[in-house]
Amino acid sequence: MCYVNGKTIRELREKRRFTQRELAEKICVSDKTVSKWETGKGFPDVVVIEDLAKALGVSIAELLTGDLKENENPSGNMKKMHFFVCPICGNVITSVGLGSFSCCGVTLPGEEPQSCDKEHEIHLEEVDLEYHLFLDHPMEKKHYVSFVAYVTAESVEVVKLYPEQDISVRFRKKGHGLLYVYCNRHGMFQIRV
Ligand SMILES: [Fe+2]
Repeated sequence: MCYVNGKTIRELREKRRFTQRELAEKICVSDKTVSKWETGKGFPDVVVIEDLAKALGVSIAELLTGDLKENENPSGNMKKMHFFVCPICGNVITSVGLGSFSCCGVTLPGEEPQSCDKEHEIHLEEVDLEYHLFLDHPMEKKHYVSFVAYVTAESVEVVKLYPEQDISVRFRKKGHGLLYVYCNRHGMFQIRV
């Protein structure tokens, strides 16, 4: 099992410009204790790990593995949106980063969008300030497009669709991004706009 490394604690503390005493005060331990952790003479008790991660500005996973996501914007880029679709109830979960999600007792693998094939070709018209999206695809109970989504750097819009409905959706243009369609049989397809 991975457990927190003293070098990681020291690097994170120095990055945030805390003295050992300042860090110690934030998590209600002594500066000698912090020094022990950093020099590998002791480990933080599991009950302080959450507070320690918070004080150092990282997730518990980052603290434990030492795998620091230093160069990533913590708020994430919407274009890196991941979709998780429940095969049982059709629930759609969106996440800016990777994560573990489950629904109806099933752990959901993230969708891996493909380029559109002939059957899932996205037809797009730009009309004034809108994108009009059409698809010539079955909309039967057993085979249909269950949602379409428009993702830009700042936002995500998901439109749910139902069997017997036409696939005709309008999105207000918000700049470059990705359009996704999700077919309940064939998975997710994308085009850049
Ligand atoms: Fe399909």
